[in-house]
Amino acid sequence: MRIFSGIQPTGRKHLGNYIGAIRQYVDGQERGDPAIYCIVDLHAITVPHDPQALRRSVYDTLALLLAAGLDPDRCVLFRQSDMPEHTELCWLLSAVTAYGDLTRMHQFKEKSQRQRELVSAGLFFYPVLQAADILLYRTDEVPVGEDQRQHLELARDVAERFNARFGEILTVPRHRIPEVGAKIMDLQDPTSKMSTTTESTAGVIFIDEEPDEIRRKVRAAVTDPGREIVRSSDKPGISNLIEIMAVVRGVNPADVEREFAGRGYAEFKQAVAEAVVEFLRPVRERYRELRPDEEALERTLADGAERARELARPVLADVRRAMGFGPAVRQPV
Ligand code: AMP
Ligand code: TRP
Repeated sequence: MRIFSGIQPTGRKHLGNYIGAIRQYVDGQERGDPAIYCIVDLHAITVPHDPQALRRSVYDTLALLLAAGLDPDRCVLFRQSDMPEHTELCWLLSAVTAYGDLTRMHQFKEKSQRQRELVSAGLFFYPVLQAADILLYRTDEVPVGEDQRQHLELARDVAERFNARFGEILTVPRHRIPEVGAKIMDLQDPTSKMSTTTESTAGVIFIDEEPDEIRRKVRAAVTDPGREIVRSSDKPGISNLIEIMAVVRGVNPADVEREFAGRGYAEFKQAVAEAVVEFLRPVRERYRELRPDEEALERTLADGAERARELARPVLADVRRAMGFGPAVRQPV
């Protein structure tokens, strides 16, 4: 089974990324044939960006993925901009992407509202490039968090429309969204997802965060009226902490509720803080070791791109041929 996912090299990666996505990438290495992971720097230019910072952020993200357990011998790990095949396929797929569908993308609506100076055409086109990323590898399964559900639906529609018009060339992918932890919420505002684009980072736990900072942020997490430690729609703060605790402990949310039944919020928060500190500790330590060696990181990316290209080339060639580019292939008589 082909597994593919992409992660943006923007901002510091946080506990939501780890729980919703990166954890699944590591797991995919066992099941993928192969598992392919892409640092999507071309997606990062759809909002204003600083070129120097972008280059550094690719290294930050790569070092973090390696620290979290991605092993370049067991997966294909590369940088999107090293592969012009992605941008070429993006353009070809634009022919089978519905303009109306793009206007309905939640992420576009949300991100375009936040732009002060320019809403770029790239931001609007973002999901087409994402579809190209996925379809270029005849991907079966795409591990992502809940916020990518709609983009995955679009990629499926694009593949289906392509196949209907030009023949069965592309694989229609399915998403893999975890049952628990698909949408980790901001600790200060548990009705919004944890994200680096929020103005304040008080409710965001970064993967490379110092233990004392983690403790402080969890202790300050907004909780709800009442005192019971149970999941419920009117208890978004406590529900979020229960989900976090379940994932970092590797148990079910119901187990967490049982364990903490009758105990107070303060005690629960303290336990969550310690569990998160221990969960992230090895990743943070490994990240510190790996991040400084940019030459080694560059070599990893170059190797990854070479392997990705071998997988991508035949698919792109099929797409080009089916769409009528290049000389006609003579049919044997
Ligand atoms: P990004 O950093 O936007 O490229 O996101 C990388 C991955 O993390 C995607 O698969 C997202 O769906 C996932 N993700 C982002 N934020 C969260 C969150 N708060 N909870 C769970 N998953 C998330
Ligand atoms: N849009 C995704 C996000 O914000 C990143 C992404 C780009 C992606 N290309 C992808 C995810 C392909 C899965 C598959 O998280």
